[in-house]
Amino acid sequence: MSSQATAYETVLVERDGHVATVTLNRPDKLNALNLTLVTELGKAFAELEASGDVRVAILTGAGEKAFAAGADIAAMSEMSTAQAKSFADLGHRVGAQMEGASFPIIAAVNGFALGGGCEIALACDFIYASDKAKFGQPEVNLGVIPGFGGTQRLARRVGIGRARELCFTGDVIGADEAVRIGLANAVVAHAELLSKARDVAKKIASKGPVAIAQCKRVLVRGADVPLATANELEAQAFGALFGTRDQREGMKAFLEKRPAAFEGK
Ligand code: COA
Repeated sequence: MSSQATAYETVLVERDGHVATVTLNRPDKLNALNLTLVTELGKAFAELEASGDVRVAILTGAGEKAFAAGADIAAMSEMSTAQAKSFADLGHRVGAQMEGASFPIIAAVNGFALGGGCEIALACDFIYASDKAKFGQPEVNLGVIPGFGGTQRLARRVGIGRARELCFTGDVIGADEAVRIGLANAVVAHAELLSKARDVAKKIASKGPVAIAQCKRVLVRGADVPLATANELEAQAFGALFGTRDQREGMKAFLEKRPAAFEGK
């Protein structure tokens, strides 16, 4: 059963059991990220976190053409240096919030994911690309640079050489190339994109939710610290999970040869 939660002006949030779908919703502007949209995206993820029972979220774009064609150029064209810094800070806060979420977020990139659109997709845990998807960091064409984490998350996702090439040239790449360089995990026929994302979301949602939350936390936080510190984070999380009902249920169910009924506790 699908239901619509809080209504926002530029973001749609739907729930289907433990799976939430968040849709960037300014299709007439190719879902360009203005202040309202980025603010509402942060609020939407905060609301999902607060609900306590979201296990996976899917992020996609409204309309047939775009995930998001970048930060809103019309809005940015009027910004002062202080306003631009504060807009970048907002994008960074929302990206950090998405990475800090207790549930995985799958980007279902249904068209253009340029500039801030590519950066928001990179703040998701992984990306599925429609065969119509196009990715790029074309900010240098406008005399600026990525401002929502693109220089850093793109390099961490695809390697420093390819990130430099994409950021310096502003080139736009298709879905196959995005998969080839490790930016997206898979190319999916456009019409199948959301059903593929939902199938994978449901599979993840059937696993132990506390384990998935800890797995995400260690994967995200571990990526930015020395290996020994990251392994210590992993060992602590592994140990802590043995204090959960889900761990007892998961192992008992295996031994009793039945599916586990996880509670997320
Ligand atoms: N900011 C603000 N508005 C945008 C936008 C953006 N990043 N991207 C698209 N739009 C708007 C267009 O201005 C147009 O609005 P209008 O109908 O009121 O004129 C509408 O969305 C449709 O875009 P349009 O350019 O007509 O579509 P297209 O199919 O011809 O081209 C793109 C698609 C993505 C190639 C083109 O829109 C584009 O280059 N966008 C900017 C990409 C970019 O540089 N992003 C990085 C920003 S930092």
